[in-house]
Amino acid sequence: MSLSAEDHDYFLALQTRTGWGKTLVRFLEWCLPDRPVRVLDVGAGPALASALAAQRGHWVVGVDRDPLMLAQSLHPTVALADAGALPFGAGAFDLTLASNLLYLLPDPLPALREMARVTAPGGYVAVLNPSERMSVAAARALADARGLTGLARETLLNLAARAEACYRWSPADLGALFARVGLRLVRTRTAMRPGLLRWALAEAVSSGRV
Ligand SMILES: C[S@@+](CC[C@H](N)C(=O)[O-])C[C@H]1O[C@@H](n2cnc3c(N)ncnc32)[C@H](O)[C@@H]1O
Repeated sequence: MSLSAEDHDYFLALQTRTGWGKTLVRFLEWCLPDRPVRVLDVGAGPALASALAAQRGHWVVGVDRDPLMLAQSLHPTVALADAGALPFGAGAFDLTLASNLLYLLPDPLPALREMARVTAPGGYVAVLNPSERMSVAAARALADARGLTGLARETLLNLAARAEACYRWSPADLGALFARVGLRLVRTRTAMRPGLLRWALAEAVSSGRV
């Protein structure tokens, strides 16, 4: 059964009332330009960020390596692909996003290198990951302070446990990672008080200018 445009908008609005949905909305407001651009959402999952960016007038493609995620996609233009081998030409996008993906990868560099390759020179790469302040203890304190229970609490604690086992990035860490693939850190900020997430925006520059 396909959703009508009205049903789709209503469903999207519902998603943005969740804690994670609100975080994604703020992240997109922070990194999307005002004019319509070509956006790639890598590790899109159910493609909420893709759908929200498309709703704001951007031309968006989402990719994920899990067919089950794509089967529940909130955005019509999605493809099955691994972040380490993106099926797009060099410079095909103006903004390449990865929300809650890079820190999970055993080695984030191949995916980040691919994201840099498909981003046009002068375009941007925007990433959302756990910050250097994320830990299970910090996430538990936040969940207690906000009275989170059930799935919301479990999701936050799970994110923190995975971050402890994988990566948590400071501005210096991200600046160094970006520089290795021809990206220049432009700005970064924390989110999820007291700063358990880190957003970062980097510019794609031609080699030699980093
Ligand atoms: C934690 S979810 C994040 C989903 C979405 N970006 C968000 O912020 O809500 C991570 C997603 O990345 C996908 N993923 C993990 N490794 C990947 C890879 N190497 N290439 C593409 N997608 C990947 C998973 O299938 C999952 O859908």
